[in-house]
Amino acid sequence: MPLSTDLKPLNIKDVLEATGMRGKSMIFLDDWSREQLGTLFEAAKLLEPYSRARLDLLKGKVLYTLFFQPSTRTRCSHEAAMLRMGGGVITETDPLHNSAMAKNESLYDSIRVISQYADVLVLRHGDSDAVFAAIDRLGPHACPIISGAFGHVTHPTQGLLDMYTAYRVVDKPFTDMRIIISTPDLSRARSGQSFALGAARMGAHIIYTGASELRTPQVMIDKLKAMGASYEEHFDLDKKGNIALMEKADLLYLPGSSLKKEDPNREDFMRKVANHHFTLDDLQGIKRKTGRAVGIMHSLPRNDFEFDQAIDNSEFELYFKQIGYSVPLRMALLGAICGVN
Ligand code: CP
Repeated sequence: MPLSTDLKPLNIKDVLEATGMRGKSMIFLDDWSREQLGTLFEAAKLLEPYSRARLDLLKGKVLYTLFFQPSTRTRCSHEAAMLRMGGGVITETDPLHNSAMAKNESLYDSIRVISQYADVLVLRHGDSDAVFAAIDRLGPHACPIISGAFGHVTHPTQGLLDMYTAYRVVDKPFTDMRIIISTPDLSRARSGQSFALGAARMGAHIIYTGASELRTPQVMIDKLKAMGASYEEHFDLDKKGNIALMEKADLLYLPGSSLKKEDPNREDFMRKVANHHFTLDDLQGIKRKTGRAVGIMHSLPRNDFEFDQAIDNSEFELYFKQIGYSVPLRMALLGAICGVN
């Protein structure tokens, strides 16, 4: 009997091309189909063995990282991914002092210029409206742009690496997963919102739990509704209420606290954080009751008041595993967008 053509070995170049992402920007995860995202994860899995080695698929390509806000993970893992793929990197971490933006050059002009040096740009900026206005005006005059987080609304590659972690560690398809996004401040949770949007696109059920006065931005709710996402929202639950949600979930995502030290609402916020603070004991108790381990995800960096750091060395920890999965995922993303020949 002849072998089915489906059984031929996967070729990483073909898989990257099959994502349909070549030459495109990465801004919101609902811009992509379930099939495209699934193909990207397949590519990332093929690239995992090279994420601590080298595979020269992007030799000659240049990545420019332009960061208006601080970053360790997002910038360095994109840069590591490009270097592992054999490409080069130009880094700008303080554009308002080091670049021509110190001489009042506009964001539009800066990106239009950078696009003549680079094959792909990773941009982090605090003002999403300013970025969207510049991107609209740039039209075809910009290289592909990967959002390294814009304002409070989108951090798509964080969402992608979170989804890839779920894909690799949860022993069920996205369509059977139940994922909690838990924080007192859903309004500024760009990591959790991006993960929720992408996981919902893959068919997961999303459970939001937060404070009623700091809800998910309307733009995200509109996107979830437009894609027919399965989601529920809970507000002002006490710790017991949040534990009850966890008993029916596979993953608990803590997007990190947006609280500034000088915030006048700090006391009130800290009271609310306590309802979203989980300990190793809590997780062990849930496992004894349900027989299942709830994986704890966090975008990092973390504050020590956010969750019990005894979880670090337990079976529930996924937040450092997320970091490990971020490099092959971003290698796949850069390969898919830049295109490999
Ligand atoms: N998770 C995340 O975005 O971390 P950085 O701010 O270090 O990039």
